[in-house]
Amino acid sequence: MDLMRVIVLFALIAARCARASLPNFVLLFADDLGYGDLGCFGHPSSLTPNLDRLAAGGLRFTDFYVTSPVCSPSRAALLTGRYQTRSGIYPGVFYPGSNGGLPLNETTVAEVLKSRGYATAIVGKWHLGVGPNGIYLPTRQGFDRYLGIPYSHDQGPCQNLVCFPPDVKCYGFCDQGVVTVPLLSNENIKRQPADFLQLEKEYSEFASKFINDAVQNNQPFFLYYPSHHTHYPQYAGADYAGKSPRGPFGDALMEFDGTVGKILQTLKERGVINNTLIFFTGDNGPELMRKSHGGNAGLLKCGKGTTYEGGMREPAIAYWPGSIQPGVTRALASSLDILPTFARLAGAALPDVQLDGFDMTNILLYHRPSERQTIFYYPTSPSQEHGVFAVRWKNFKAHYYTQGANHSRGTSDSNCSSLPLLNHDPPLLYNLEADPSEYYNLNSSEWDSVLQQIQAIKEHFEASMVFGESEIAKGIDSALAPCCVPNCTPKPECCHCTPAL
Ligand SMILES: *[C@@H]1O[C@H](CO)[C@@H](O)[C@H](O)[C@H]1NC(C)=O
Ligand SMILES: *[C@@H]1O[C@H](CO)[C@@H](O)[C@H](O)[C@H]1NC(C)=O
Ligand SMILES: *[C@@H]1O[C@H](CO)[C@@H](O)[C@H](O)[C@H]1NC(C)=O
Ligand SMILES: *[C@@H]1O[C@H](CO)[C@@H](O)[C@H](O)[C@H]1NC(C)=O
Ligand SMILES: *[C@@H]1O[C@H](CO)[C@@H](O)[C@H](O)[C@H]1NC(C)=O
Repeated sequence: MDLMRVIVLFALIAARCARASLPNFVLLFADDLGYGDLGCFGHPSSLTPNLDRLAAGGLRFTDFYVTSPVCSPSRAALLTGRYQTRSGIYPGVFYPGSNGGLPLNETTVAEVLKSRGYATAIVGKWHLGVGPNGIYLPTRQGFDRYLGIPYSHDQGPCQNLVCFPPDVKCYGFCDQGVVTVPLLSNENIKRQPADFLQLEKEYSEFASKFINDAVQNNQPFFLYYPSHHTHYPQYAGADYAGKSPRGPFGDALMEFDGTVGKILQTLKERGVINNTLIFFTGDNGPELMRKSHGGNAGLLKCGKGTTYEGGMREPAIAYWPGSIQPGVTRALASSLDILPTFARLAGAALPDVQLDGFDMTNILLYHRPSERQTIFYYPTSPSQEHGVFAVRWKNFKAHYYTQGANHSRGTSDSNCSSLPLLNHDPPLLYNLEADPSEYYNLNSSEWDSVLQQIQAIKEHFEASMVFGESEIAKGIDSALAPCCVPNCTPKPECCHCTPAL
């Protein structure tokens, strides 16, 4: 062998070893799950043995936040490390026929990791746009593989669909006048409507196959599993239906937990569990208007759609045996911090844009305090006129605006739903450590200096905020809704395909 070939050979071996030692990432993301819904966060009748195991063997966060009390914007921030206002994912959420989507020039955590040779996959709910010819699907945003329903599974009529075996119809009606929800494989419709009784089984098989393939190829991997559970209407297959003391919501949560268990099992069997960081959280607070079919925010005030704690503070767990010591952290952290943290651990360069996240590795690996001291609460439909509705600084939270939301209707606290948009001057001030339920407004002058400090932080933040062009304001073209028989009539009913067995 000549010298050049020896050098090339060594370089190849070195690259392979470096790749093999990169950590894998599994990001678990629940839907409309409240702060009080998991066994390990105090729920008395939820059965979540696998998530509880992650909490017992990993780091449980008490003060973890998302950036929006609704779905699409929360997911945009999770995947980009930037507030949804920057990427234009406001007001509200995407629909099956939305013209817009997460702009392709935004850099997702999947794209960041791909730059380091990661295999990437998403299984479950995307909800960041489909668009003309599927240009906003996850396969265009750094994910090698996709299996899932590309938006919420109530964004299509569900009254004739089966949610529990043998043939229990879904609870409620869901959205009418649109196509039934499709199951996509990469960019193709695999079936329409999706089969809720088989869905989680297919998802866990897809996840296991993806992990197996990556391990076999000696490739580090990133698996993103944004579950449809526990969003309305709840569903579960035969293994979980009727198994939870908590009813249909509990069964759906148990099925999600079961998929988490299967992913853990695969990681163990393939010998990569000690080289994989698993991070779990949820997209926003519980949809209280569904009553016992919705989730529970525990001791936090209100739920989905509001900027009270129950809308935006989520259960979160980081698990990485041997690297993360078990415990509980009260460090302030956010879904915005996922991208910088994964990038750091993978040795990947950060995208050259204004990021809003902080690297959490000091919290995870050394139980050190957070670099993050603030949380900004944007409402469902942010505007430049109103800006952020609330600011948390250390243990204090100031509400500049409050507003109820229909998603949080039906509890004894009528402010969760009926409160009109109110401006508070001076802001309502709560000490979230002494008073996590936001009961006692600190309205005496002894807190003036805290309010001044928060005001300065808010002004500084808002001066840096440039709202991107709204993708959701680009509107809806019903012809864009995914249809497995593209030119059929009459739509939407004709969009119906069941694969031959
Ligand atoms: C993406 O492109 C739009 C339109 O040109 C631009 O306004 C926006 O700043 C770009 N975003 C990023 C992250 O580069
Ligand atoms: C992971 O590490 C633990 C503790 O060191 C060890 O007992 C276990 O066998 C390891 N598992 C794998 C799959 O390497
Ligand atoms: C709640 O729903 C009612 C009736 O659909 C509507 O009039 C009202 O504006 C909604 N409230 C909020 C806060 O969105
Ligand atoms: C509801 O909101 C109003 C206006 O901010 C406030 O005066 C009242 O105390 C609130 N009620 C509860 C139960 O929080
Ligand atoms: C503070 O709030 C309490 C009850 O909510 C009220 O009785 C009191 O007048 C308020 N004090 C000030 C200074 O606004």
